Amino acid sequence: MFKPKNKKKEKVKLTKESIHKAKKIFTYLKPYQGMFIIGWIFLVLSSSAGLFFPYLLGQLLGGTTTESAGFSGNSSWVEQLDLTNINIVAGLLVVLFFLQSLFSYFRIILFTKVTENTLRDIRNDAFQKLIYMPMDFFNRNKVGALTSRLSADITIIQDTLRTTIAEFFRQVIIIVGSIIFITIVSWRLALIMLATVPVMAIIAVLFGRFIRKLSKKAQDAAADSNTIIEENLMGITNVKTFTNEQFVFSKYKKTIDTIRQLNITSGNWRGLFVSFIILCLFGAIVFIIWQGLHMTIGPNPTLERGDFFAFVMFTVFMGASFGSLPDLYATIQKAIGATEHLMDLLEEKTELQTHQGKDQSTIQGNVTFKSLIFHYPQRKDMTVINDISFSAKSGEKIALVGSSGAGKSTIASLLQGFYTPTKGSIEIDDKNMRDIELNHLRRHMALVPQEVLLFGGSIKENIAFGRPDATEEEIIAAAKQANALQFIESFPEGMDTEVGDRGIQLSGGQKQRIAIARAILKNPTILILDEATSALDSESERLVQEALETLMEGRTSFIIAHRLSTIRKADKILVLENGRIIEEGTHEELAEKENGVYANLSSLQNT
Ligand SMILES: Nc1ncnc2c1ncn2[C@@H]1O[C@H](COP(=O)(O)OP(=O)(O)O)[C@@H](O)[C@H]1O
Ligand SMILES: [Mg+2]
Repeated sequence: MFKPKNKKKEKVKLTKESIHKAKKIFTYLKPYQGMFIIGWIFLVLSSSAGLFFPYLLGQLLGGTTTESAGFSGNSSWVEQLDLTNINIVAGLLVVLFFLQSLFSYFRIILFTKVTENTLRDIRNDAFQKLIYMPMDFFNRNKVGALTSRLSADITIIQDTLRTTIAEFFRQVIIIVGSIIFITIVSWRLALIMLATVPVMAIIAVLFGRFIRKLSKKAQDAAADSNTIIEENLMGITNVKTFTNEQFVFSKYKKTIDTIRQLNITSGNWRGLFVSFIILCLFGAIVFIIWQGLHMTIGPNPTLERGDFFAFVMFTVFMGASFGSLPDLYATIQKAIGATEHLMDLLEEKTELQTHQGKDQSTIQGNVTFKSLIFHYPQRKDMTVINDISFSAKSGEKIALVGSSGAGKSTIASLLQGFYTPTKGSIEIDDKNMRDIELNHLRRHMALVPQEVLLFGGSIKENIAFGRPDATEEEIIAAAKQANALQFIESFPEGMDTEVGDRGIQLSGGQKQRIAIARAILKNPTILILDEATSALDSESERLVQEALETLMEGRTSFIIAHRLSTIRKADKILVLENGRIIEEGTHEELAEKENGVYANLSSLQNT
């Protein structure tokens, strides 16, 4: 199951399962496999060509300018390549660089193209998944954590596909190639080398990491101490009023001591590290050179000078490659974690997969709740809707009142199919809601919430949100009916005024009327007003209320309201408490009820 984790740089243990999941990324690579394979061919070519570099460099260092004696005119060009002649070697190096730059160029552009194509598909799929995810998913996942995690995952995968894999492969080729070469040149020297340099290189890297961790701790402590300074100087009056100087100071002193101790510890290890590098790593290299030189001199040298220098070059390159492996491996590990996580998201079931209804016949707007019981999926112990039954005929106004937490908004959510009832059902025109196609159902509904969210864009676009194909005239007519046209036209840019985060700020009442215009334009059969006027001052409430009256005409409306004045004319009022209907009737019936909850509320609000 998809779970966003808080730790950003999360490494996973490479298990069979995680690798299996990460392999699913290949389904995303598949459309670009041709390009990817060609990219790999270039990678193999450039990496293998890279092996000639230490070899030729060695020959260059060990070479001379004299031409070899056995030069004959009719031997092939390969035989004419005298690798003890530095001019020839230098020429070969130039050819090598040319080839390598060519291979690398194509490798990089191909890998980048494959990566970007793949990521585009993944990003599209991920966002599409997200917007089709059932509400419950958003209860389980915080949107902020979700988006930052997602973008972090994608960045890691991007780096890995684009460079890390290639880099890892290149280093492996260098290591394998080097081992083969040096073994051929001198297996004795190779054995000595292999027993020392790679081991040293890896120890050096792990050692370095350990020291980094220590200094990270010291940095964190330093940040803590800065917080103490900042907080107490900002709140200096509080410190003084409570004569807390001494207390604050001793707290500070303690963190400073910690920093000192941590830095000294890391300094000690750094000293050891440097000594280790000088003594062991450089010592090992010198030891090998010394051993090797012995082989090149004397009456029967077992090693040619050029080969010996090549040996040294391979050793240096190999040491560097070994050193880079741990970090590369860690990045790949992280990428596998990120991929696994992304694939989890991409495999979650969307609403359209869980809600399988297909019925698309016209919706009249008769709504019946039948013994409905519901608890939120992540809070199974709390029954939010407890056996509710009622019915609304097409065109009726049903009011829901009750204290906050009674379950009114939950009923609105259930109506829109955001959640599935735990028991019982909702019937629309005598059909179980489950059997109606979800988009078809929602197309016939509109919600005017308490908090209206306007999207970045113009007022026009915001009104047309529920019906993007609406004409300009329809939009203006809707705005007019919603009592919104007047204030819209008072803006210099009218309908084209930008709203949302980057646009102008609208008042609550103005936003509310835009939401109403949105709903009018959508022309729903079933309308839900969830405390649509609760947050308004009385002047805008009057305008909004008028607009709502217009909106409700001829639709089955569910009105959730705090202010009872807004629901007097409802055909039926349901009073809710703890997920149950405790009173039901018209305003007149309920207002007369002795000791009735509604009657009490009503008389309280009238005074
Ligand atoms: N998404 C949710 N997940 C879990 N519990 C919820 C969720 N939304 C609401 N609740 C709980 O369900 C109960 C009813 O909430 P709600 O329907 O919003 O009440 P009302 O709209 O009447 O104020 C409350 O106890 C609330 O804490
Ligand atoms: Mg509510």
